[in-house]
Amino acid sequence: MTASPIAAKPAGTAPRGLGATRRRDRWWIAPGVQGVLFTILATYLFFSGIVWTPLFGTAYEVDGYLSPLFSPLIAPGWLPSIISPGMLILWIPLGFRATCYYYRKAYYRFYFADPPGCAVGEPSVHRRYAMETRFPFILQNIHRYFLYLAFIPLFFLWVDTFGSLLPNGQLRLGLGSAIFLVNVVLLTGFSLSCNSLRHIVGGHLDCFSCSRANRTRYSAWRRLSGLNQRHMVYAWASLVSIVVADLYIHLLGLGVLSDPQILF
Ligand code: FES
Repeated sequence: MTASPIAAKPAGTAPRGLGATRRRDRWWIAPGVQGVLFTILATYLFFSGIVWTPLFGTAYEVDGYLSPLFSPLIAPGWLPSIISPGMLILWIPLGFRATCYYYRKAYYRFYFADPPGCAVGEPSVHRRYAMETRFPFILQNIHRYFLYLAFIPLFFLWVDTFGSLLPNGQLRLGLGSAIFLVNVVLLTGFSLSCNSLRHIVGGHLDCFSCSRANRTRYSAWRRLSGLNQRHMVYAWASLVSIVVADLYIHLLGLGVLSDPQILF
């Protein structure tokens, strides 16, 4: 059986040719800045979560603060030392972000120029590109399942945040706990503002007012829709906050910083 040929993309209204456009604004600034920032943050997270611990024995838990890249901590005795415990959990947030509708728009622009921007021409190589109808990009459609899974590490991050307030049964207000709290709030905002969640809650309904259950769903859908308008903000802010929280723990472990704290 032969695969059906890939149809050409509709021509669209942008001029033909990479970067060709009638736009007069600096459309390239946003994808350019986002591409650089995303590459730096993602590279840091890759090395910190997967490479550094096996190679250098880098600490991921210091003074009652567990790095969010390693939570929930899964480090069974049989795990070879060459494998970072972060690998056992990071595939969930990685898959969640990689398939996120917003991130897809962003990295299709700054990595694939597909297209580079609204009303901006793209490379001719995309004219016979199957988009998200074939492997590998058809896998983007499992985003909703990554959403379900993403609530598992999110739950444990809340547990870690409260746990960092009581590391030895004594109340401690430390800068690390404040950083954890900001991080987990932003991550919660990112998850709750997800387009898929909004659809799960309010989709497949013909009538919002026909039953109490439907009215409840409508109310929740409106709240999630409000959050959804800021999904891009949550996406970037939470990506930065994860890096800050993890970096803070590394700096504590290296003795570069000490955690300002009040004990009660
Ligand atoms: Fe971005 Fe679901 S659409 S996390």
